[in-house]
Amino acid sequence: MSVERHLAGYVMGMQLPTPRGPLTEALFSALRSDAEFLSVLAAPSTTEEDAALALWVLYQLHHHGFDGVPDELEWDPQLLRLRALLERDLERRLRSRFTAPEGLRFGDDFFDWVAEHDGASLAAHVHRDATREQVLELTRVRSIYHLMESDSTVWVVPRLGVRAKAALMELLYDEYGVGNPNRLHHHLFARGMEASGLDASYGTYIDDAPTEILEQNNAMSLFGLHRRHRAAALGHLAAFEATSSLPSRRMVQGLERLGFPDEMVGYYAEHVEADAVHEQLAVRTIVGGLLADEPELEEDAWFGAFTCLDLEDRFARRMLAGWGALDRQDVA
Ligand SMILES: [Fe+2]
Ligand SMILES: [Fe+2]
Repeated sequence: MSVERHLAGYVMGMQLPTPRGPLTEALFSALRSDAEFLSVLAAPSTTEEDAALALWVLYQLHHHGFDGVPDELEWDPQLLRLRALLERDLERRLRSRFTAPEGLRFGDDFFDWVAEHDGASLAAHVHRDATREQVLELTRVRSIYHLMESDSTVWVVPRLGVRAKAALMELLYDEYGVGNPNRLHHHLFARGMEASGLDASYGTYIDDAPTEILEQNNAMSLFGLHRRHRAAALGHLAAFEATSSLPSRRMVQGLERLGFPDEMVGYYAEHVEADAVHEQLAVRTIVGGLLADEPELEEDAWFGAFTCLDLEDRFARRMLAGWGALDRQDVA
């Protein structure tokens, strides 16, 4: 099957980003020179932004890699040690914001809980008020996730029992285009970007990505890459799917209002229908199957779900505040 407008660029290496502090300065120059990483390990504590970018780059060694950085470094023990330190800080921050819901059951109460945790909404802003420039800015920074949509979740598959595994593969089969590369979701997004005049090569816009975007992506990699976080990964997936269908409809209407091309509108239109199905599958069969096998993981599933909503709310507030639009939303 031929691939429309084959975008080789987004499956190949990319350039290292611009450093954002002493840690990424030291790390990137060591990655380029294949030098000892011990000095990087000894780097002083730094800002959240610098740490988030360093972790994002270390995770990308498992995904796309970087031009000029040897592939062997993916499993370098010193880099894995640095990654573990950064992951420990990230997990501590995420857990410090989370309180386990009392007396709720994931299978019965999840959708009500999501409704109560409704945060700031970028889709509502795009629907009614956003300018074309704001939507382009949003698309550039969102591309850090959407051009590798679902890739972090795939790591979880071998760690599941049969019911959750079969259901997750059913969902992922959809995300990866049902055997048709032209229906693959991150390829749909790439085509939408190109049609909108943007560069769809993976990582092009990483220097524009705020800390909140880096942390969203880092949290998904953290949950996906560690077996002990399998329930958090699936809880995150459930929350992601459960907050996609209606916002996608608003995105469709906003993009049409602003005259964006059909390819970009089509990416969101696909998610109106697909995620109405995916949210049921994710909550009832994927997380439901996991918790039937391992009921002791329920709190971790809530942790993943909360983290998804929390990081999206923080990202939305950051963008809306930058556009002077936060006070138009009915959020605390
Ligand atoms: Fe998708
Ligand atoms: Fe989905």
